[in-house]
Amino acid sequence: MADLQALVEEIHHTLKPRTGEGKVADYIPSLARVDPNKFGIAVVDLDGNVYKTGDCDEAFSIQSVSKVFTLTLALGKHGETTWNRVGREPSGSAFNSIVQLEHEHGKPRNPFINAGAIVISDSVLAGHTPREAIGEIVRFVQYLADDPTIAIDPEVARSEAATGFRNMALANFMKSYGKLQHPVDHVLGVYFHQCALAMSCTQLARAGLFLAANGKNPITGHRVVSSQRARRINALMLTCGHYDGSGDFAYHVGLPGKSGVGGGIMAVAPGKASVAVWSPGLNQNGNSLVGSLALEMLANKTGWSVF
Ligand code: DON
Repeated sequence: MADLQALVEEIHHTLKPRTGEGKVADYIPSLARVDPNKFGIAVVDLDGNVYKTGDCDEAFSIQSVSKVFTLTLALGKHGETTWNRVGREPSGSAFNSIVQLEHEHGKPRNPFINAGAIVISDSVLAGHTPREAIGEIVRFVQYLADDPTIAIDPEVARSEAATGFRNMALANFMKSYGKLQHPVDHVLGVYFHQCALAMSCTQLARAGLFLAANGKNPITGHRVVSSQRARRINALMLTCGHYDGSGDFAYHVGLPGKSGVGGGIMAVAPGKASVAVWSPGLNQNGNSLVGSLALEMLANKTGWSVF
């Protein structure tokens, strides 16, 4: 689409003045000191054309966006039995909520809330040491994005571990129900490191491209997952990718998407393109405020909503 570059620039220009709105995550120093005025957009279409603007090539902490990649890995290892351990329903609760776990016998609602992602980290660990599992995750994301430079930010990983008391509580609670197969510190080691992956919008949009293209990366030709699995991962992103803001995101944007507390969102326009936006200021659900608005404008102007 020839005017897509003009469109991403227009969106950037329109929303840039609002980047000060929202609240930058401050639970760890390396996120708290990120400039709230950062704003990047990258769109990759199925021909591999990239339309990008702003801070689109600056790496940021992808945080919970990583949950899409680890879910894809876990499904590859364990197939549909993954769903014996984690559900597929929206939680209607905050990303780090513990309330449902007791009523539901330690089985998390979905793989994108923290509890669910911790179960997925446990299943990625199967047969590996934590170091091997972390290496596997990094290599998988490099393979998806076709970019060997993608890496984990060690300072973010260290701070996640030093401050992750809620995640420790979630993991220990699930362990008490027999829901984790590995030692809690091993599982959390994997989880904290996947959250600390640093990627740019361009890298993230490329990594998500297989989901826009029936499971096959059209640039590299690699079949990552079957078309059915790509559709199903997209369905989960649509219904659960923005926590208790998922309904609102579907209403306004209408695309499968996954947010992270670092201010990134990866979104998928099936059959059209993969998109990543980054703006660190978060709304009250912990999702990028300007990033969500940017995706809403993009979906409106392109007609890419899945509805
Ligand atoms: O585990 C946590 O709480 C953070 N490392 C990641 C949470 C996150 O990205 C939630 N997204 N909005």
